[in-house]
Amino acid sequence: MKHGEIQIPSLYRKRSDRCYVACKLRSDPLYQAITPLLRDSPHPLLDVGCGLGLLSFHLRNEGIRVPIHAVDYDPRKIDEARMASLRARVTGLRFSTNDAREGLPEHHGNVTILDILQFFTPEEQQRLLRDAAARVAPGGLLIVRSGLRDRSARFAVTIAGDLLARATWWMKAAPVHYPCAADFRRILSPSGEVSIDPLWGATPFNNHLIVLRKP
Ligand SMILES: C[S@@+](CC[C@H](N)C(=O)[O-])C[C@H]1O[C@@H](n2cnc3c(N)ncnc32)[C@H](O)[C@@H]1O
Repeated sequence: MKHGEIQIPSLYRKRSDRCYVACKLRSDPLYQAITPLLRDSPHPLLDVGCGLGLLSFHLRNEGIRVPIHAVDYDPRKIDEARMASLRARVTGLRFSTNDAREGLPEHHGNVTILDILQFFTPEEQQRLLRDAAARVAPGGLLIVRSGLRDRSARFAVTIAGDLLARATWWMKAAPVHYPCAADFRRILSPSGEVSIDPLWGATPFNNHLIVLRKP
């Protein structure tokens, strides 16, 4: 498979998924921002809360060939991601049903947690971040995208967006708690260097990219 060969939206069976995926890939800078961080890394990737598996297909399109284990607690999304993977005819992708509140699969490499922390209580967030950091290999990365709790108008829009996703049944759960920047520094700094940067692109949300670099 050559770079950029997978037409990601067309991998999905349902029209609503195809529309969502096309819109997400067009409007959200998330996957483009992650690509350079993972491009030269030899480590396998664990993607926690993978949804329809967009990050996996995006990385394959970018020529990133490391093994990827992608997990989500929504069996419908895992089913669709598996079917999409067959259609894409890519290798080294594994999709599993896993509730991150009950622990993470065995892993040693890089870890991504993208846009799922808001569904967890503060205690669950702390446990998940520590579990994820423990699975990062030396020299590896934990990459988190999260809306940050602060006093900005962007934060209010972030909450409204998540409530809308729940009201339309796109998400099975309503948002529970948003972490603030200090939470990430407190929980992750003991494991390595932590950076926190805005990542909202053209979206109205208060999204940030949090990266833990393990020495
Ligand atoms: C906003 S979507 C993000 C999907 C994906 N990370 C992405 O960036 O395209 C949040 C995902 O988290 C998943 N999720 C929520 N709670 C979860 C849990 N306890 N364990 C695993 N996945 C969970 C949802 O099913 C959903 O697919």
